[in-house]
Amino acid sequence: MTIYNPARPWLPLAPSPVAAIPLAYDERMTSILPPVEPAAAPSVADETAQGIMSREREHLLQNYARYPLVLARGKGSYVFDTQGRRYLDLITGIGVNALGYAHPRIVKVIREQAGRLIHCSNLYYHSYQGPLAERLARMSGLDRTFFANTGTEAVEGALKIARAYGRAIHPEKYEIISLDNSFHGRTLGALSITGQPKYRADFEPLLPGVKFVPINDISALEAAVNERTAGIFLEMIQGEGGIYPLTPEFARKARELADHHGALLIADETQCGVGRPGVYFAYQLANPVIQPDVMCAAKPVACGIPLGFVIASEKAAAAIKPGMHGSTFGGGALACRVSLEFLDILEELLPSIQKSGVYFKTRLEDLARKHASVKEVRGFGLMLGMELTTPGKQVVLDALEAGLLINCTHETILRFLPAYTITEAEIDRAIKILHKVLAKVGKQ
Ligand SMILES: Cc1ncc(COP(=O)(O)O)c(C=O)c1O
Repeated sequence: MTIYNPARPWLPLAPSPVAAIPLAYDERMTSILPPVEPAAAPSVADETAQGIMSREREHLLQNYARYPLVLARGKGSYVFDTQGRRYLDLITGIGVNALGYAHPRIVKVIREQAGRLIHCSNLYYHSYQGPLAERLARMSGLDRTFFANTGTEAVEGALKIARAYGRAIHPEKYEIISLDNSFHGRTLGALSITGQPKYRADFEPLLPGVKFVPINDISALEAAVNERTAGIFLEMIQGEGGIYPLTPEFARKARELADHHGALLIADETQCGVGRPGVYFAYQLANPVIQPDVMCAAKPVACGIPLGFVIASEKAAAAIKPGMHGSTFGGGALACRVSLEFLDILEELLPSIQKSGVYFKTRLEDLARKHASVKEVRGFGLMLGMELTTPGKQVVLDALEAGLLINCTHETILRFLPAYTITEAEIDRAIKILHKVLAKVGKQ
């Protein structure tokens, strides 16, 4: 048991097991690949890892079901546990580490900017919010940005824009249309428009006036939207819901209905956007583009430094007046500077995202033909899903043991959100491991 100093109970007297792990920044991490270890096993056997896990069990809110793996550092598409075993990472912090780990240009700007100005609140200006907002406007075809920290906070911002926009037209114009199986975040507003009862049930009653429509069901959408609708929220490719793309016909109908009833069309691109689909935003996959009035994004925007944003057309943005919204941390100097660097790199990377996305999908489809346990492969760019006929939990654990990090959503859908820099050789390696673990499913 840990012994505590009664005067300063938050300081344990015994040395923390965390101190044993070399977590400090190490110059070598950005320049060389650490030695390649043999295929990995979960670090649960590692004593330091055990200490970290049991301390968390004792002191953290028990809301996460973590895998038994304690990570220490990463380089490119690989991440290393506390014993130095390496894992090929195809989930990248759930789509956040878009350039993998320790990208030299990102490390460089973080170090530089950390020595100058990390944060100054939104009481003052700094040099990076304006240029970043200008750049996001160019990329998205929208006009005005509000910076937040997370996806859920960006969604809250979009919800407030929709509510204020509707209310300015009529006090009864506050309804929101969202989709079954959608995911928009964990705060109460975002949860209110998340179409999955399992996330909502414990917190009801939630926001009134939210209607859910089955994905790609045009008649249901037509029946739900009316003069009371303030906003229609869409994920162009449902992520947490299991990598389900919307049909262009459905998304286009949502655009038409929003126009017809004076509502806002809002794209939640938190998971499916910012380069991941091989274009900047998933609504740009349709030809012609299905332009939303408002868009939210987060995850990869600053490569792991928390940053989210909501960007709106002039018409929608005019609903928010001084004092109506804010965030202490949103749009800090460090986060915005990193994001600008990331977007420079992204511009160069976009064609290769499309190319590696096609390669990865083709290789997954090859696997699907070899394994009866694979039902379907879906997705665009580097946002791919493989639906199994059986639960995928054991596949994820077996892959982890074989040195591959993936994740499973909705029981049966393996989700792949690799770094945008993933190489064909790394994809081949992932396919080889998946082939082995899927063969095991066949035998069960
Ligand atoms: C589409 C979508 N919206 C919102 C969120 C919430 O983002 P965050 O976890 O950063 O709050 C997520 C998270 O997975 C998401 O996929």
